[in-house]
Amino acid sequence: MILAVSSQKGGVGKTSVTINLAYSLAKRGWRVLVADTDTQGSIGLSLSKRAKECRGLYDSLRTGEPFSKLVLSTRLPGLKILTTGRCDFDLEESLDEEETKTQLGSLIRSTSNFDCDVVIIDTPAGVGPVTRTVIANSDRVLVVEQAEPLGLRSLPLMMETLTRLRQRGSQFGLVGVVLNMVNQDREESIHAARDLRSIAPQGSVLRTIIPRDDSFLQASGKGIPLGMLMKNPPQAALVFDQLAAEIEPTLNLSNQTDEQRQHSELLD
Ligand SMILES: Nc1ncnc2c1ncn2[C@@H]1O[C@H](COP(=O)(O)OP(=O)(O)O)[C@@H](O)[C@H]1O
Ligand SMILES: [Mg+2]
Repeated sequence: MILAVSSQKGGVGKTSVTINLAYSLAKRGWRVLVADTDTQGSIGLSLSKRAKECRGLYDSLRTGEPFSKLVLSTRLPGLKILTTGRCDFDLEESLDEEETKTQLGSLIRSTSNFDCDVVIIDTPAGVGPVTRTVIANSDRVLVVEQAEPLGLRSLPLMMETLTRLRQRGSQFGLVGVVLNMVNQDREESIHAARDLRSIAPQGSVLRTIIPRDDSFLQASGKGIPLGMLMKNPPQAALVFDQLAAEIEPTLNLSNQTDEQRQHSELLD
């Protein structure tokens, strides 16, 4: 199962959602691979200084080396990371070309052969060639929107992009739209969240909303998911457990499969 995390607008929390959702899913017993396709390398930057220097997805694209050799393990069993690696000027430029997009698409698809339950792919800001290629080769898409008036402009554009990609034959499903940085104390934020629900395709906005919380800044500064920030994780960390539980069925991650998987591991 390949899940792309995307948005039309930058800075809305894609990388934060990717890392924290992956952490919650891994804690809930799923084997998760996070892959970073942002040429700015945000997962690498955010997760560890060591990861920043590691080879990753774009090295695999450039050299043809199997990506599976470049995957990093983390302190949490079940959570693995493929950083962005080095995307040099020539490669970045060629990402507009059909041949490179086809190669990137095959690389994305090939992650489904990796030994894990779900691959979560962080994408760059906007819906440029990389994001479109990732979405077109994913099974599901999770859209992140910021609960603010500008979101009202970007959500329809994102939905239009998804419709166009489907019209061209891509077969991904929409997991939903997750509202981030919701400030329950501000009327503007509550109104924006309500208005986003009204313009989004019916039922597509997820029940779980992510609050605006300073702990995100602290966590990204330290390069860790919120759940690892302190002994008692901040309230915002628990929201990702809720988000994971809400979307597991759409990702075909059911408890039955979980039990079956544990049994098969016991028998080995
Ligand atoms: N719910 C939130 N509350 C407060 N700050 C947040 C929240 N989500 C993300 N941020 C902060 O906003 C900034 C942009 O988030 P990021 O995840 O990098 O967005 P994107 O990947 O869409 O560019 C980061 O500094 C991050 O720590
Ligand atoms: Mg990002």
